[in-house]
Amino acid sequence: MQANKIFIETYGCQMNEYDTELVKTILTQQDYTLVKEERQADIVMLNTCSVRENANRKIYGRIHEIRHERQGKPVLIGILGCMATNFRKALLDDPHLGIDFIAGPDSYKQLPTLIHEVSQQGQKSFDVTLSEFETYSDITPTRKDGVNAWLAIMRGCNNFCSFCVVPYTRGRERSRDPHNIVQEVEKLVQEGFTQVTLLGQNVNSYRYEDSDFTDLMKMVSDVKGIKRIRYTSPHPKDFPIKLLRLMAERPNICKQVHMPLQAGSNRILDKMNRTYTQAEFLNLVAQAREIIPNIAVSTDIIVGFPGETDEEFEDTVKVVEASQFDFAFIFKYSPRQNTLADRKYPDDVSAEEKARRTIRLNDVQRAISHQKNLAHVGEIHEVLIEQESSKKSPDDFKGRNDANKIVIFPAGPYKAGAYISIKITDATTNVLKGIPV
Ligand code: 5AD
Ligand code: SF4
Repeated sequence: MQANKIFIETYGCQMNEYDTELVKTILTQQDYTLVKEERQADIVMLNTCSVRENANRKIYGRIHEIRHERQGKPVLIGILGCMATNFRKALLDDPHLGIDFIAGPDSYKQLPTLIHEVSQQGQKSFDVTLSEFETYSDITPTRKDGVNAWLAIMRGCNNFCSFCVVPYTRGRERSRDPHNIVQEVEKLVQEGFTQVTLLGQNVNSYRYEDSDFTDLMKMVSDVKGIKRIRYTSPHPKDFPIKLLRLMAERPNICKQVHMPLQAGSNRILDKMNRTYTQAEFLNLVAQAREIIPNIAVSTDIIVGFPGETDEEFEDTVKVVEASQFDFAFIFKYSPRQNTLADRKYPDDVSAEEKARRTIRLNDVQRAISHQKNLAHVGEIHEVLIEQESSKKSPDDFKGRNDANKIVIFPAGPYKAGAYISIKITDATTNVLKGIPV
Protein backbone atom coordinates (compact mmCIF):
# COMPACT_ATOMS: atom_id res chain seq x y z
CA MET A 1 0.00 0.00 0.00
CA GLN A 2 1.31 3.46 -0.92
CA ALA A 3 0.82 5.37 2.27
CA ASN A 4 2.03 8.94 2.53
CA LYS A 5 -0.57 11.12 4.21
CA ILE A 6 0.30 11.49 7.85
CA PHE A 7 -1.42 12.77 10.94
CA ILE A 8 0.17 13.00 14.39
CA GLU A 9 -1.67 13.34 17.70
CA THR A 10 0.34 14.50 20.68
CA TYR A 11 -0.15 13.59 24.34
CA GLY A 12 1.76 14.62 27.43
CA CYS A 13 4.34 17.28 28.03
CA GLN A 14 5.78 20.13 25.97
CA MET A 15 8.75 17.96 25.06
CA ASN A 16 6.34 15.70 23.21
CA GLU A 17 4.79 18.70 21.45
CA TYR A 18 8.29 19.64 20.38
CA ASP A 19 9.15 16.10 19.29
CA THR A 20 6.04 16.03 17.12
CA GLU A 21 7.35 19.14 15.39
CA LEU A 22 10.67 17.33 14.81
CA VAL A 23 8.89 14.26 13.42
CA LYS A 24 6.90 16.45 11.03
CA THR A 25 10.16 17.83 9.62
CA ILE A 26 11.77 14.39 9.37
CA LEU A 27 8.82 12.97 7.45
CA THR A 28 7.98 15.92 5.20
CA GLN A 29 11.63 16.03 4.11
CA GLN A 30 10.88 12.59 2.66
CA ASP A 31 7.78 11.90 0.60
CA TYR A 32 5.15 12.40 3.28
CA THR A 33 2.52 15.09 3.52
CA LEU A 34 0.78 16.33 6.62
CA VAL A 35 -3.01 16.32 6.65
CA LYS A 36 -5.22 18.40 8.92
CA GLU A 37 -7.59 15.68 10.09
CA GLU A 38 -7.00 12.17 11.31
CA ARG A 39 -9.60 10.64 8.97
CA GLN A 40 -7.79 11.97 5.89
CA ALA A 41 -4.57 10.22 6.85
CA ASP A 42 -3.31 6.81 5.86
CA ILE A 43 -0.71 6.86 8.59
CA VAL A 44 -1.77 7.94 12.08
CA MET A 45 0.87 8.37 14.76
CA LEU A 46 0.23 8.87 18.44
CA ASN A 47 3.06 10.59 20.27
CA THR A 48 2.51 9.10 23.70
CA CYS A 49 3.13 9.81 27.36
CA SER A 50 3.79 7.29 30.11
CA VAL A 51 4.20 9.53 33.10
CA ARG A 52 0.98 8.39 34.80
CA GLU A 53 -1.32 5.44 34.30
CA ASN A 54 -4.26 7.48 32.99
CA ALA A 55 -2.06 8.80 30.17
CA ASN A 56 -1.51 5.20 29.10
CA ARG A 57 -5.18 4.33 29.33
CA LYS A 58 -6.09 7.25 27.12
CA ILE A 59 -3.80 5.96 24.37
CA TYR A 60 -5.23 2.45 24.43
CA GLY A 61 -8.74 3.91 24.18
CA ARG A 62 -7.70 6.15 21.31
CA ILE A 63 -6.16 3.31 19.29
CA HIS A 64 -9.40 1.30 19.54
CA GLU A 65 -11.37 4.37 18.54
CA ILE A 66 -9.30 4.95 15.41
CA ARG A 67 -9.59 1.30 14.34
CA HIS A 68 -13.34 1.42 14.97
CA GLU A 69 -13.87 4.64 12.99
CA ARG A 70 -12.04 3.21 9.99
CA GLN A 71 -14.28 0.13 9.99
CA GLY A 72 -11.68 -2.17 8.49
CA LYS A 73 -10.32 0.33 5.95
CA PRO A 74 -6.53 0.32 5.91
CA VAL A 75 -4.70 2.72 8.15
CA LEU A 76 -1.23 2.34 9.57
CA ILE A 77 -0.97 3.15 13.26
CA GLY A 78 2.34 4.08 14.81
CA ILE A 79 3.22 4.66 18.45
CA LEU A 80 5.88 7.24 19.20
CA GLY A 81 7.33 8.59 22.42
CA CYS A 82 7.43 7.40 25.97
CA MET A 83 5.03 4.46 25.79
CA ALA A 84 7.10 3.03 22.95
CA THR A 85 10.07 2.18 25.14
CA ASN A 86 8.24 0.40 27.94
CA PHE A 87 5.41 -1.19 26.03
CA ARG A 88 7.08 -2.29 22.83
CA LYS A 89 6.29 -5.95 23.32
CA ALA A 90 2.79 -5.51 24.68
CA LEU A 91 1.85 -3.07 21.93
CA LEU A 92 3.17 -5.10 19.03
CA ASP A 93 1.91 -8.44 20.30
CA ASP A 94 -1.66 -7.39 21.05
CA PRO A 95 -3.66 -8.38 17.95
CA HIS A 96 -6.62 -6.22 19.00
CA LEU A 97 -4.54 -3.08 18.99
CA GLY A 98 -3.01 -3.72 15.58
CA ILE A 99 -0.04 -1.40 15.99
CA ASP A 100 2.10 -1.31 12.85
CA PHE A 101 5.23 0.48 13.93
CA ILE A 102 6.84 1.89 17.06
CA ALA A 103 9.54 4.53 17.48
CA GLY A 104 11.02 5.60 20.80
CA PRO A 105 12.07 9.20 21.59
CA ASP A 106 15.58 8.74 20.18
CA SER A 107 14.54 6.89 17.00
CA TYR A 108 12.60 9.48 15.06
CA LYS A 109 15.20 9.69 12.30
CA GLN A 110 14.44 6.00 11.64
CA LEU A 111 10.75 6.70 11.03
CA PRO A 112 10.91 6.83 7.20
CA THR A 113 12.61 3.40 7.22
CA LEU A 114 10.19 1.97 9.78
CA ILE A 115 7.15 3.18 7.83
CA HIS A 116 8.64 1.89 4.60
CA GLU A 117 9.07 -1.56 6.14
CA VAL A 118 5.41 -1.78 7.10
CA SER A 119 3.90 -0.17 4.06
CA GLN A 120 6.10 -1.85 1.44
CA GLN A 121 7.00 -5.13 3.07
CA GLY A 122 3.98 -5.61 5.31
CA GLN A 123 6.28 -6.14 8.24
CA LYS A 124 5.66 -4.65 11.68
CA SER A 125 8.65 -2.56 12.65
CA PHE A 126 10.09 -0.88 15.69
CA ASP A 127 13.12 0.97 17.01
CA VAL A 128 13.19 1.95 20.66
CA THR A 129 16.94 2.21 21.14
CA LEU A 130 17.89 4.98 23.54
CA SER A 131 20.87 7.06 22.56
CA GLU A 132 23.46 8.85 24.64
CA PHE A 133 24.01 11.42 21.90
CA GLU A 134 20.86 12.12 19.90
CA THR A 135 19.72 15.72 20.41
CA TYR A 136 18.17 16.34 16.97
CA SER A 137 20.20 19.54 16.84
CA ASP A 138 20.35 19.18 13.03
CA ILE A 139 16.55 19.12 12.63
CA THR A 140 14.52 22.32 12.53
CA PRO A 141 11.09 21.65 14.02
CA THR A 142 7.99 22.36 11.92
CA ARG A 143 6.60 24.93 14.32
CA LYS A 144 2.98 25.93 14.44
CA ASP A 145 2.39 29.56 13.56
CA GLY A 146 2.26 30.90 16.98
CA VAL A 147 3.68 33.23 19.46
CA ASN A 148 5.87 30.87 21.42
CA ALA A 149 8.64 28.68 20.05
CA TRP A 150 9.60 25.58 22.04
CA LEU A 151 13.27 24.74 21.84
CA ALA A 152 14.76 21.60 23.40
CA ILE A 153 18.21 22.34 24.77
CA MET A 154 18.75 19.00 26.47
CA ARG A 155 17.08 15.60 26.57
CA GLY A 156 16.85 12.77 29.06
CA CYS A 157 17.26 12.66 32.81
CA ASN A 158 19.88 11.27 35.19
CA ASN A 159 18.05 11.98 38.44
CA PHE A 160 16.05 8.81 38.89
CA CYS A 161 13.41 10.22 41.20
CA SER A 162 11.96 6.97 42.46
CA PHE A 163 8.44 7.56 41.08
CA CYS A 164 9.45 8.70 37.62
CA VAL A 165 9.54 6.63 34.46
CA VAL A 166 11.26 9.33 32.38
CA PRO A 167 14.84 8.11 32.86
CA TYR A 168 13.69 4.74 31.49
CA THR A 169 11.63 6.03 28.58
CA ARG A 170 13.90 8.87 27.54
CA GLY A 171 17.34 7.75 28.66
CA ARG A 172 20.35 9.69 29.82
CA GLU A 173 20.92 13.42 29.93
CA ARG A 174 22.58 15.05 26.95
CA SER A 175 22.81 18.73 26.01
CA ARG A 176 23.08 20.63 22.76
CA ASP A 177 25.95 22.91 21.77
CA PRO A 178 25.07 26.43 23.02
CA HIS A 179 26.18 28.04 19.74
CA ASN A 180 23.80 25.81 17.84
CA ILE A 181 21.00 26.83 20.23
CA VAL A 182 21.79 30.53 19.82
CA GLN A 183 21.72 30.15 16.03
CA GLU A 184 18.29 28.58 16.28
CA VAL A 185 17.04 31.43 18.49
CA GLU A 186 18.39 33.97 15.96
CA LYS A 187 16.50 32.17 13.22
CA LEU A 188 13.34 32.22 15.32
CA VAL A 189 13.58 35.98 15.67
CA GLN A 190 13.90 36.28 11.88
CA GLU A 191 10.75 34.18 11.54
CA GLY A 192 8.87 36.57 13.82
CA PHE A 193 8.89 34.75 17.17
CA THR A 194 9.59 36.95 20.17
CA GLN A 195 9.12 34.33 22.89
CA VAL A 196 11.14 31.16 23.29
CA THR A 197 10.69 28.45 25.92
CA LEU A 198 13.78 26.36 26.50
CA LEU A 199 12.86 22.77 27.18
CA GLY A 200 14.46 19.83 28.91
CA GLN A 201 13.41 17.02 31.22
CA ASN A 202 15.76 18.67 33.61
CA VAL A 203 16.34 21.89 31.82
CA ASN A 204 18.62 23.54 34.38
CA SER A 205 20.92 20.50 34.54
CA TYR A 206 22.03 21.65 31.08
CA ARG A 207 25.75 21.30 30.56
CA TYR A 208 27.81 21.41 27.38
CA GLU A 209 31.58 21.30 27.88
CA ASP A 210 32.26 24.36 30.09
CA SER A 211 28.85 25.98 29.64
CA ASP A 212 26.17 25.52 32.25
CA PHE A 213 22.54 26.60 32.21
CA THR A 214 23.26 30.14 33.44
CA ASP A 215 25.86 30.60 30.69
CA LEU A 216 23.37 29.41 28.10
CA MET A 217 20.62 31.71 29.43
CA LYS A 218 22.99 34.64 29.19
CA MET A 219 23.78 33.80 25.55
CA VAL A 220 20.10 33.39 24.64
CA SER A 221 19.20 36.60 26.44
CA ASP A 222 21.81 38.46 24.37
CA VAL A 223 20.06 37.53 21.12
CA LYS A 224 18.56 40.74 19.67
CA GLY A 225 14.79 40.65 19.24
CA ILE A 226 13.98 38.00 21.85
CA LYS A 227 11.57 39.60 24.27
CA ARG A 228 10.57 36.69 26.50
CA ILE A 229 12.63 33.70 27.57
CA ARG A 230 11.08 30.94 29.67
CA TYR A 231 12.34 27.48 30.60
CA THR A 232 10.82 24.28 31.86
CA SER A 233 11.02 21.96 33.71
CA PRO A 234 13.77 22.63 36.22
CA HIS A 235 14.86 20.66 39.27
CA PRO A 236 15.31 22.52 42.58
CA LYS A 237 18.80 21.04 42.92
CA ASP A 238 20.12 23.17 40.02
CA PHE A 239 19.34 26.75 41.06
CA PRO A 240 22.62 28.53 41.74
CA ILE A 241 22.35 32.13 42.98
CA LYS A 242 23.99 33.31 39.76
CA LEU A 243 21.01 31.99 37.77
CA LEU A 244 18.53 33.85 39.98
CA ARG A 245 20.62 37.02 39.72
CA LEU A 246 20.72 36.73 35.94
CA MET A 247 16.94 36.33 35.88
CA ALA A 248 16.60 39.46 37.98
CA GLU A 249 18.97 41.49 35.79
CA ARG A 250 17.70 40.59 32.35
CA PRO A 251 14.41 42.18 31.29
CA ASN A 252 13.88 39.51 28.61
CA ILE A 253 14.08 36.57 31.04
CA CYS A 254 10.56 36.10 32.38
CA LYS A 255 10.08 36.50 36.11
CA GLN A 256 8.55 33.10 36.45
CA VAL A 257 9.79 29.74 37.60
CA HIS A 258 8.35 26.25 37.84
CA MET A 259 9.76 24.66 40.98
CA PRO A 260 8.53 21.06 41.41
CA LEU A 261 8.13 20.35 45.13
CA GLN A 262 6.62 16.84 44.81
CA ALA A 263 6.22 16.39 48.58
CA GLY A 264 6.65 18.33 51.78
CA SER A 265 7.78 15.61 54.19
CA ASN A 266 11.49 14.94 54.50
CA ARG A 267 10.99 11.19 54.78
CA ILE A 268 8.90 11.10 51.58
CA LEU A 269 11.29 13.45 49.76
CA ASP A 270 14.08 11.05 50.66
CA LYS A 271 12.10 8.02 49.47
CA MET A 272 11.39 9.93 46.28
CA ASN A 273 15.13 10.53 45.86
CA ARG A 274 14.58 14.24 45.38
CA THR A 275 17.92 15.18 47.08
CA TYR A 276 16.55 18.21 48.98
CA THR A 277 14.77 18.67 52.28
CA GLN A 278 11.68 20.67 53.11
CA ALA A 279 13.83 23.41 54.63
CA GLU A 280 16.11 23.56 51.59
CA PHE A 281 13.13 23.88 49.29
CA LEU A 282 11.54 26.65 51.37
CA ASN A 283 14.87 28.40 51.51
CA LEU A 284 15.19 28.28 47.73
CA VAL A 285 11.73 29.77 47.22
CA ALA A 286 12.53 32.51 49.74
CA GLN A 287 15.83 33.21 48.01
CA ALA A 288 14.17 33.39 44.59
CA ARG A 289 11.61 35.87 45.96
CA GLU A 290 14.30 37.94 47.64
CA ILE A 291 16.39 38.24 44.48
CA ILE A 292 13.40 38.54 42.09
CA PRO A 293 10.65 40.13 44.23
CA ASN A 294 7.83 39.84 41.68
CA ILE A 295 8.64 36.28 40.61
CA ALA A 296 5.74 33.88 40.00
CA VAL A 297 6.37 30.38 41.30
CA SER A 298 4.46 27.28 40.22
CA THR A 299 4.96 23.68 41.26
CA ASP A 300 4.17 19.98 40.81
CA ILE A 301 3.04 17.84 43.73
CA ILE A 302 2.36 14.13 44.07
CA VAL A 303 -0.08 12.97 46.75
CA GLY A 304 -0.29 9.44 48.07
CA PHE A 305 3.28 8.33 47.43
CA PRO A 306 3.74 4.85 48.97
CA GLY A 307 3.78 5.01 52.75
CA GLU A 308 2.72 8.69 52.91
CA THR A 309 0.89 9.08 56.21
CA ASP A 310 -1.74 11.67 56.93
CA GLU A 311 0.77 13.62 58.95
CA GLU A 312 3.29 13.54 56.15
CA PHE A 313 0.65 14.73 53.72
CA GLU A 314 -0.08 17.61 56.10
CA ASP A 315 3.62 18.52 55.80
CA THR A 316 2.97 19.02 52.09
CA VAL A 317 0.00 21.25 52.91
CA LYS A 318 2.22 23.28 55.24
CA VAL A 319 4.90 23.76 52.59
CA VAL A 320 2.23 24.78 50.07
CA GLU A 321 0.90 27.35 52.52
CA ALA A 322 4.37 28.64 53.29
CA SER A 323 5.49 28.75 49.66
CA GLN A 324 2.48 30.71 48.40
CA PHE A 325 2.72 29.20 44.92
CA ASP A 326 0.91 31.03 42.16
CA PHE A 327 -0.19 27.73 40.72
CA ALA A 328 0.22 24.01 41.41
CA PHE A 329 -0.29 20.85 39.39
CA ILE A 330 -1.41 18.16 41.80
CA PHE A 331 -1.14 14.49 40.84
CA LYS A 332 -2.14 11.26 42.50
CA TYR A 333 0.77 8.84 42.75
CA SER A 334 0.59 6.19 40.07
CA PRO A 335 3.09 3.31 40.07
CA ARG A 336 5.22 3.14 36.93
CA GLN A 337 6.88 0.07 35.53
CA ASN A 338 10.63 -0.29 36.21
CA THR A 339 10.83 2.62 38.65
CA LEU A 340 12.48 2.17 42.02
CA ALA A 341 9.28 3.09 43.87
CA ASP A 342 7.33 0.46 41.98
CA ARG A 343 9.92 -2.22 42.67
CA LYS A 344 10.44 -1.31 46.30
CA TYR A 345 7.24 0.11 47.76
CA PRO A 346 3.67 -1.19 47.55
CA ASP A 347 1.14 1.40 46.33
CA ASP A 348 -0.56 1.39 49.71
CA VAL A 349 -2.42 4.70 49.89
CA SER A 350 -6.00 3.92 48.85
CA ALA A 351 -7.63 5.56 45.83
CA GLU A 352 -10.15 7.25 48.16
CA GLU A 353 -7.40 8.66 50.33
CA LYS A 354 -5.48 9.93 47.30
CA ALA A 355 -8.69 11.59 46.10
CA ARG A 356 -9.29 13.17 49.52
CA ARG A 357 -5.74 14.53 49.66
CA THR A 358 -6.01 15.90 46.14
CA ILE A 359 -9.21 17.77 46.98
CA ARG A 360 -7.81 19.09 50.24
CA LEU A 361 -4.60 20.32 48.65
CA ASN A 362 -6.45 21.77 45.67
CA ASP A 363 -8.71 23.73 48.01
CA VAL A 364 -5.73 25.18 49.84
CA GLN A 365 -3.90 26.04 46.63
CA ARG A 366 -6.96 27.48 44.87
CA ALA A 367 -7.48 29.94 47.71
CA ILE A 368 -3.83 31.00 47.49
CA SER A 369 -3.97 31.31 43.69
CA HIS A 370 -7.12 33.41 43.86
CA GLN A 371 -5.69 35.72 46.48
CA LYS A 372 -2.42 36.12 44.57
CA ASN A 373 -4.29 36.88 41.37
CA LEU A 374 -6.56 39.43 43.06
CA ALA A 375 -3.49 41.24 44.35
CA HIS A 376 -2.74 42.22 40.72
CA VAL A 377 -5.99 44.14 40.31
CA GLY A 378 -5.18 47.75 39.43
CA GLU A 379 -1.76 46.94 37.93
CA ILE A 380 -0.86 47.34 34.26
CA HIS A 381 0.67 44.23 32.66
CA GLU A 382 2.32 43.78 29.31
CA VAL A 383 0.47 40.95 27.64
CA LEU A 384 1.59 38.85 24.70
CA ILE A 385 -1.56 38.05 22.71
CA GLU A 386 -1.91 34.34 22.06
CA GLN A 387 -5.42 33.88 20.74
CA GLU A 388 -7.96 36.11 19.09
CA SER A 389 -10.70 34.50 21.18
CA SER A 390 -10.84 32.90 24.63
CA LYS A 391 -12.00 29.49 25.83
CA LYS A 392 -15.24 30.97 27.07
CA SER A 393 -16.05 33.70 24.59
CA PRO A 394 -15.28 34.78 21.00
CA ASP A 395 -15.62 38.37 22.23
CA ASP A 396 -12.55 38.04 24.41
CA PHE A 397 -8.88 37.70 23.53
CA LYS A 398 -6.38 35.61 25.49
CA GLY A 399 -2.79 36.38 26.24
CA ARG A 400 -0.15 35.93 28.92
CA ASN A 401 1.75 38.32 31.09
CA ASP A 402 5.44 38.03 31.93
CA ALA A 403 4.61 35.72 34.86
CA ASN A 404 2.90 33.33 32.39
CA LYS A 405 -0.53 34.06 33.83
CA ILE A 406 -3.45 33.99 31.43
CA VAL A 407 -4.95 37.43 30.85
CA ILE A 408 -8.39 37.78 29.27
CA PHE A 409 -9.47 41.10 27.74
CA PRO A 410 -12.13 42.37 25.31
CA ALA A 411 -11.58 41.69 21.60
CA GLY A 412 -10.22 44.55 19.51
CA PRO A 413 -8.14 45.32 16.43
CA TYR A 414 -5.07 43.47 17.74
CA LYS A 415 -3.22 40.45 16.37
CA ALA A 416 -1.87 37.33 18.01
CA GLY A 417 1.85 37.79 18.57
CA ALA A 418 1.50 41.48 19.46
CA TYR A 419 2.14 42.95 22.91
CA ILE A 420 -0.51 45.06 24.56
CA SER A 421 -0.78 46.90 27.91
CA ILE A 422 -3.69 45.63 29.95
CA LYS A 423 -5.00 47.12 33.16
CA ILE A 424 -6.05 44.26 35.44
CA THR A 425 -9.60 44.78 36.68
CA ASP A 426 -10.56 41.37 38.08
CA ALA A 427 -9.15 37.91 38.75
CA THR A 428 -10.29 34.33 39.28
CA THR A 429 -8.27 31.36 40.52
CA ASN A 430 -6.96 30.68 37.03
CA VAL A 431 -7.00 33.92 35.07
CA LEU A 432 -6.56 37.67 35.25
CA LYS A 433 -9.08 39.87 33.48
CA GLY A 434 -8.51 43.37 32.24
CA ILE A 435 -8.93 46.12 29.68
CA PRO A 436 -6.45 47.59 27.19
CA VAL A 437 -5.00 50.94 28.21
N1 5AD B 1 2.75 9.39 39.66
C1 5AD B 1 2.17 10.61 39.77
N2 5AD B 1 2.73 11.73 39.29
C2 5AD B 1 3.92 11.63 38.67
N3 5AD B 1 4.71 12.55 38.11
C3 5AD B 1 5.79 11.93 37.61
N4 5AD B 1 5.72 10.61 37.85
C4 5AD B 1 4.57 10.40 38.51
C5 5AD B 1 3.94 9.24 39.04
N5 5AD B 1 4.50 8.04 38.97
C6 5AD B 1 4.43 13.99 38.14
C7 5AD B 1 5.52 14.75 38.87
C8 5AD B 1 6.24 15.45 37.75
C9 5AD B 1 5.13 15.68 36.75
C10 5AD B 1 5.58 15.97 35.37
O1 5AD B 1 4.40 14.48 36.80
O2 5AD B 1 4.91 15.68 39.73
O3 5AD B 1 6.86 16.65 38.16
FE1 SF4 C 1 11.42 12.43 36.44
FE2 SF4 C 1 12.77 13.38 38.53
FE3 SF4 C 1 13.91 13.31 36.06
FE4 SF4 C 1 11.89 15.04 36.58
S1 SF4 C 1 13.91 15.03 37.54
S2 SF4 C 1 12.13 13.72 34.75
S3 SF4 C 1 10.63 13.88 38.00
S4 SF4 C 1 13.33 11.55 37.29
